[in-house]
Amino acid sequence: MTVLPKWFYDEFQQSGVDFEDTAQVEAYDRNQRSSNEQAEQELIEGLGICAGHTVVDLGTGTGTFAIQACKAGARVHAVDVSQTMLAYARKKALAANAENIEFHHAGFLTYEHRGEPVDFMVTKAALHHLPDFWKMVGLLRMASMLKAGGVLYLRDAVFSFNASEYRSRIDAWIDRMAKPAGEGFTLSDFETHVREEYSTFGWIIEGMLTRAGFEIEQANYLTPEYAQYVCRKRKTKTDSQG
Ligand SMILES: C[S@@+](CC[C@H](N)C(=O)[O-])C[C@H]1O[C@@H](n2cnc3c(N)ncnc32)[C@H](O)[C@@H]1O
Repeated sequence: MTVLPKWFYDEFQQSGVDFEDTAQVEAYDRNQRSSNEQAEQELIEGLGICAGHTVVDLGTGTGTFAIQACKAGARVHAVDVSQTMLAYARKKALAANAENIEFHHAGFLTYEHRGEPVDFMVTKAALHHLPDFWKMVGLLRMASMLKAGGVLYLRDAVFSFNASEYRSRIDAWIDRMAKPAGEGFTLSDFETHVREEYSTFGWIIEGMLTRAGFEIEQANYLTPEYAQYVCRKRKTKTDSQG
């Protein structure tokens, strides 16, 4: 096992929502509408994931994507820093007869991939748990695990509004999205996200992706607060200078 320096970020320390709490994990699985089976199947098809591919799902959460990727025939490594999430995802995978998934208790900064470089790295709604410096470290590590020409799919809460409007834009986002308790993500969930997690601007994410060695093939700003990127690992040497 690699010995990490004392200054290294502790990614196992929960930031924002406590995903070691079983009630939070169950609520997350209920509320996460963009991560339903059909949406994941469409994503898998769109990315071209199929039998013979190896996929790493970083921040797998309750495993919906990993299970569908496995059903599409891929060999899947599902990685998460939360033992509670992993236990939940394992149970779901068992119930779905999705056997070709290896679960790993690790994260963006600590997952060590053994074996050949992989075809796809996927990370949804998870990278924002790291501060920006460490997002960059995570992206460099993801690039290092991918084969040349391999694909990174990144989806997250990413801001694309004008930074000077942050106050009204965040208020408007929360007003639009927050649901009463029991019906979806609540006011308090969104407040916690903005206050304690590390969503950042699209221009920062794009700069990081490029410097980590990716060609951005698609950057879709789905709303002013969510984005998805399809990127390909460049065949040439990574330019990781700041
Ligand atoms: C909001 S959930 C998203 C889960 C899933 N990807 C989805 O789309 O539904 C965020 C997940 O990221 C995990 N996470 C937080 N920090 C992480 C890190 N540094 N490395 C990997 N996963 C992390 C959390 O434990 C949680 O399971």
